[in-house]
Amino acid sequence: MTHLLHLDASARTRSLSRRLGAEFVQAWRAEAPDGEYTYRDLTAQPTPFIGEGWTELCDGVLAAGGTDLDRLPELAVTPAAKTAWKIVEPLLAQVLAADVILIGTPMYNYSIPAALKAWLDQITFPRMSLGERRFVVVGARGGAYSPGAPKAAYDYQERYLRDFFAGHFAVTDTVFVHAELANAVQDPNLAHLRAAHEVSLAAALSEVRLLAQDYAK
Ligand SMILES: Cc1cc2nc3c(=O)[nH]c(=O)nc-3n(C[C@H](O)[C@H](O)[C@H](O)COP(=O)(O)O)c2cc1C
Repeated sequence: MTHLLHLDASARTRSLSRRLGAEFVQAWRAEAPDGEYTYRDLTAQPTPFIGEGWTELCDGVLAAGGTDLDRLPELAVTPAAKTAWKIVEPLLAQVLAADVILIGTPMYNYSIPAALKAWLDQITFPRMSLGERRFVVVGARGGAYSPGAPKAAYDYQERYLRDFFAGHFAVTDTVFVHAELANAVQDPNLAHLRAAHEVSLAAALSEVRLLAQDYAK
């Protein structure tokens, strides 16, 4: 049985990345009615930034030569590290219980929102593999960053997440779907790109529906 962990990171309620994620979940549920589903809105329910206690916990992991997930609780030795572990434990448990992790994220300042980075900082430890899990990232951005676009090289949203999941979590099965040119809807200077945005959004919506069917198996 599939277990889907779904995270949203947009500061907006009427958000395109939220819409893409919701579309994925609807199609996934239709295919896997018995699948388990866990949701966290990282904006409504933000994870705190890591603090001193978290770094003490991480120092313990480093001294132990890397992350042994079963041993993490006992590496929280100092009072501050024990407090940090209380925040980490339920977040990590959600990740470890999931087979598929769906992340809805906007591009903010060429990269990911602080809300998503704060979550990643909490759940990431040295030499920690999540290798059997699959990530699906559904994103939205104001501009265009597809191959060939003038600003393609500025896409630190997809590149960061892809490299991070592969390089740190040993997860190579990450799929990205983006709705582009979202700013054309509001910005009169970009009015000529509204049709292109609609095409990009429609393509992204249909791609997530197809993906969800595959990920429900
Ligand atoms: C704080 C902030 C920073 C943004 N930075 C970028 C950016 O660097 N590049 C871009 O193409 N769009 C940028 N945008 C536009 C968003 O990516 C766009 O509005 C997108 O639709 C947001 O995703 P959402 O609809 O899921 O909220 C930014 C928007 C905000 C609010």
